[in-house]
Order: sequence, then structure tokens, then C-alpha cells
Amino acid sequence: MAVGSSAKPVDAVIVCYAETPALLKAEITAMKRQTAGAGMSVTAELPLKVKREGKRAVEHFGFVDGISQPIVRGTARAAKGAAPMHLLAPGEFLFGYRDEHGFYPSSPSVEAALDRAGILSQVRRNRQIPGQPPPPRDFGRNGTFLVMRQFEQHVELFDDYCRRAALQAADESGDPAIDQRWVAAKMLGRWQDGSSLVRNPNGRPGRGVDNDFALGAEDPQGHACPLGSHIRRSNPRDSLGEDRETQIRIGKRHRILRVGRTYVKKDRSGKTEKGLLFMCLNADIERQYEFIQQTWVSSSSFQGLVGETDPTIGARGGGGRFSIPSWEKVTVLKDVPKFVTTKGGGYFFMPSRSALRYMISRL
Ligand code: HEM
Repeated sequence: MAVGSSAKPVDAVIVCYAETPALLKAEITAMKRQTAGAGMSVTAELPLKVKREGKRAVEHFGFVDGISQPIVRGTARAAKGAAPMHLLAPGEFLFGYRDEHGFYPSSPSVEAALDRAGILSQVRRNRQIPGQPPPPRDFGRNGTFLVMRQFEQHVELFDDYCRRAALQAADESGDPAIDQRWVAAKMLGRWQDGSSLVRNPNGRPGRGVDNDFALGAEDPQGHACPLGSHIRRSNPRDSLGEDRETQIRIGKRHRILRVGRTYVKKDRSGKTEKGLLFMCLNADIERQYEFIQQTWVSSSSFQGLVGETDPTIGARGGGGRFSIPSWEKVTVLKDVPKFVTTKGGGYFFMPSRSALRYMISRL
């Protein structure tokens, strides 16, 4: 059973982390005892793992994952220095703080009278209007929304397609440098080792992970990183219009904090299923996660491309197309199958510690 499906929707998700497998096992056993004691039943369990190549976490298609993240202003990470395009206001990811437009995201609240122990702070208002009733208590502050998606990854199909597409493209173009690794990288928008196609167009090894490249200014026509590749569709950076600063400002309203965890499990027929539990945090699911998914990743019309969706994760019947532009020509990959199947998922509220204390105070 998948983590959240229409057949068996879930009310709550608990992600357990521990330093060692033994600690994890003990943690899960304790958690199950407590939840069963509270009258809950477990609908699904997914064994998650950080798959590593060297020190870096990789997902099943073979790419380093977890590189490009927004950096929240005011955090220790931001203090270490960050490219302005990745610096975002805390309110994009947390209730109770101002967002990129200077407003407080709308947060779940409770009547002040219910918070008898005075655990929650008052809802912060964007403007004080004289004569308004006192604000309710902010149940959401320091919490956020969590989006979860369980994706099965058809790894053999992906590898096989990239191999065949590379043979055909190398043959048609007479370019022996086109191989399986090249096709996969063009579809994702980075090399497998995490280096960018923009700054490492020939895939020289040892360049390392980089993330401060601009797509519009450095690769306007997608000759290095194709316009329709996964990273370009999920964060077009400065590339959707002429005015770089405006594009980045608009893009900042559509960013998410991501965590991916790989899983391998046997399905009911005994077949091994490989996949990714995709999780992301955002204060406005519609404007952030859903916008990325619908308007960019799944859209058949994106940045001048027509009849294509995200080559790596996009949904399609099987006959997908993917354009790889270069100075001389456009290589069009055809009959791109669906490499990812959504098995489950859901939208959840992730409470702060004070929200949890408040709930306990109401028992
Ligand atoms: C099986 C499913 C998926 C796989 C295998 C996958 C894989 C990857 C990889 C390898 C990267 C590049 C490394 C990085 O920057 O972390 C990446 C970047 C990213 N992905 Fe995905 N992804 C998946 C699903 C999704 C979904 C559903 C979304 C959102 C709708 C998404 C949004 C992003 C974003 C925003 C980036 C960063 C782009 C950037 O800022 O450069 N991904 N993904």
C-alpha cells in the first residue's frame, strides 16, 4: 500500500529518523505502540534510505540529489553567504513570518479563549485596522505545510531508453560524444555528479556540485541545459523573460524546500519497486508546489516548447517528445515513455512544538 492513496487516504504521517538502524527500529516500535494506544492504525509503511555514492546522496536514476535549495534569510546558512537568487524570506516556508511580498502567509488559527494556557502567540496581521476585534491565536506559527509524493521510478526503462536514444542521436548527428549519460543529463538538466550543464557543458569530471548559475543570462537558448529539462522546468531562475531581476523576484514566489528519500520495496507480486519519497515544505501549496507541478513541470506549453512535458518526471501516455537544442540543430527525442508513476501522497500540516503543546493542553 502506498503512502496515501485515494483508496486509503491518511490523516497523519510520521517520518522517523535515527543515527543507527538499531535506534531506528526501537524508535519505530515505540511509535507504533503509542499510536496504537491512541486508537490509530497504520495504513502504510515505507522503508526510506539515503542512497549514497561517495559522500553525496543520489536518487535511483543516478543523479546527486538535494542540491538546489532556497536559503532562508536570517538562518545560519544564510549568514555563511548565499547567492541573492536563492535567498528567501522565512514566510515563504513558515507561518508567522513575512513572505517575499512582506505579508504574513495565512495561517491556521484558534480562538483566543481556547488557548487557556496561553501557549500560542497572537496572529500577526498585515495591517492594524483600528476597531478590529483582538486577533486569534496563531496555531500555525513556526509550522508549515508538507507535500508528500511517493514516486515509483522505472529505472531499467529509463536506462534502456537513454541508451537507445543516445545510439540513435549519435548516429543521426555523427557525434560520438552522445552517450547514455549525456541523454540522461540533458533530460534532468545536470550531470550525474551534480555539476551544472550550464557551467560544465562537456561534463568534465571532478568539477563538483554548483548552484549559482543563471539560466537566462548564461544559457538563454538552452544549448547547454535544455529549456524543457527537469531543473529548468522546476526552477526556471531568470530565464522566463527579458528582465533578469524581475524574473528572479517572480521565481521566488514559486520555490519549495525539498527532501527526497529513496526506497526499495517488494510489491505484492514480489517485484522490487524502486522509488523516491518526495517531500517539500511551503507555506502556500497552491502558489508553490502546485504551481511548479502544473504550470511548469506538467505543462505541454512551456518556454516556447509545445507538446512536451518534463522528460524525467512528466506524466504522458508514452509517446513523449523532448527537444535538445544546440547551435547547429535541435535533436528531438521521440517516444519518451513515462519513467515515474505516482503511487501515493498527500498534503499535511506540520505543527510547531508550541502547536503540539497546545494540542496536549486541550486533551
Ligand atoms: C521521481 C521524482 C523526482 C526525481 C527523481 C527528481 C530528481 C531531481 C534531481 C536529481 C534534481 C537535481 C539536484 C538538485 O538540485 O537537488 C532535482 C531538482 C529539483 N527538483 Fe526534482 N525530482 C523529482 C520530482 C520532483 C517534483 C515532483 C518536483 C516539484 C514539483 C521537483 C522539483 C525540483 C526542484 C524545484 C529542483 C531544483 C531545481 C533548481 O533549483 O535547480 N522534483 N530533482
